[in-house]
Amino acid sequence: MNLNVVILAAGMGTRMKSSTPKVLHEALGKPMLQHTIDAVKKLKPAKTVVVIGNGAEQVKESVDDGSLTFALQKKLLGTGDALSIARKELKKGTILVLNGDCPLIKTSTLKGLLAKHKRNKNVLSFLSFIDGSMSGYGRVLRGGSGRVTGIVEDKHATADERKKFIELNGGVYVIETGIMECLKKIKKNSSSGEYYLTDIISIVAKLDKKLEAYTCPQEEIRGVNSRKELHEISDILRERVISKWMDKGVTFIDPAMSSVHMSASIGKDTIIYPNTYIEGKTVIGKNCVIYPGVRICDSAVGDNVEIKDSTLVEESRIGNGAVVGPFAHLRPASIIGRKAKIGNFVEIKKTKIGDGSKASHLSYLGDADIGEDVNIGAGTITCNYDGKNKFRTTIESGVFIGSDSQLVAPVTVGKSAYVAAGATVIKNVPSGALAISRVEQMNLKGWVKRKKEIESKKTKNRKK
Ligand code: UD1
Ligand code: CA
Repeated sequence: MNLNVVILAAGMGTRMKSSTPKVLHEALGKPMLQHTIDAVKKLKPAKTVVVIGNGAEQVKESVDDGSLTFALQKKLLGTGDALSIARKELKKGTILVLNGDCPLIKTSTLKGLLAKHKRNKNVLSFLSFIDGSMSGYGRVLRGGSGRVTGIVEDKHATADERKKFIELNGGVYVIETGIMECLKKIKKNSSSGEYYLTDIISIVAKLDKKLEAYTCPQEEIRGVNSRKELHEISDILRERVISKWMDKGVTFIDPAMSSVHMSASIGKDTIIYPNTYIEGKTVIGKNCVIYPGVRICDSAVGDNVEIKDSTLVEESRIGNGAVVGPFAHLRPASIIGRKAKIGNFVEIKKTKIGDGSKASHLSYLGDADIGEDVNIGAGTITCNYDGKNKFRTTIESGVFIGSDSQLVAPVTVGKSAYVAAGATVIKNVPSGALAISRVEQMNLKGWVKRKKEIESKKTKNRKK
């Protein structure tokens, strides 16, 4: 089958009340339109045309991957007009048309529709669902014999039609190219000034050709016109993804309170607490525990890793058996070694932490290369920035950095060296040395007593 796909994505999306084009609003971290594009991609169409109009450049930029063709609808004159604009881009064959605001559609359902269309030699087929209670959808009209005779938009339907016809149009159509001529016969709707694609149904119904609507699960063809509907479909997507990981052996303490993007993966026997976000292309290994308030984006987490409460991990790698958090921030390009420990209020950026090393409390480690079995004391800071340029710090294996030290980069602390607490390290520390940099301590004996005596004299003088 020579399959061409058209996705209608030019509309205003007025009901979203947004300055972002409707089809770019995200459901589970991905623009609605991208969900539809991904679903049709698996059908391997010869060509996919996206009709853009409102926010055209922005929409194009966000989804363009080189495989799509874009057609510009300059005036938003309705779905019928949008499809006519795509027409010149289409080759002879079968055309699958989808609304761009329908992100729950599954590839398997589209395959089923295409198969039925072909098997029954229809010239036009479309998806519908049964639910008389939902407003805003076109209603499928059927004649006495049950034959589809047309679609009337909800807002133009009479009360009688609304009562009688409870089959709703899903906005997914399969049309043979020969029938595309019928688009020319669609008349402008006098009250809205739009050309409705749905009017093609009654036009084709009058020809002596086969036309059919096939019902599918309501969930899949829910359109998004408002923020409320965006939330509803996002929640359905979220549930779909989480059920899949539960089936594969992941525990969610409260599935309603976690979000996992479609592009992420989680190993078996991992336990995920509530209020957690696993985003982008994140890969989490087996037997991990992800505690409440954690967000992990585009990162690789090994096996047996614990990420404790309120931690943010971005574009980083965490080795097997490591423990990170609570309240830690791994900024992009952080690499945490096996069995390493990153504790409370530690921020790490562009830094490699070797296997078994520890930074347990209150540190900033940026642009550093840290070896194995290093102990970074509380409050250690790499001073990596002089106001203009960034410099690297190297801490070799087995080093002990005492608490509250500053390492002024570029600087190297050699293998197994010690840095005494409170040091400001401005010179390289040779391997095996102790670096100490502090003013010698003086203890002024009896100082507090003398201070009190002076103060009480002053008060007496004032009272006189
Ligand atoms: C449409 C159908 C309705 C169906 C419902 C399913 C029509 C007239 N009605 O209604 O029968 O039940 O979808 O969700 O088709 N678009 C353009 N150019 C335009 C207008 C719209 O590209 O000039 C695009 C929109 O970006 C959107 C899609 O077409 O992705 C559907 O438009 P929308 O306005 O949402 O149609 P509905 O009123 O939901
Ligand atoms: Ca819609």
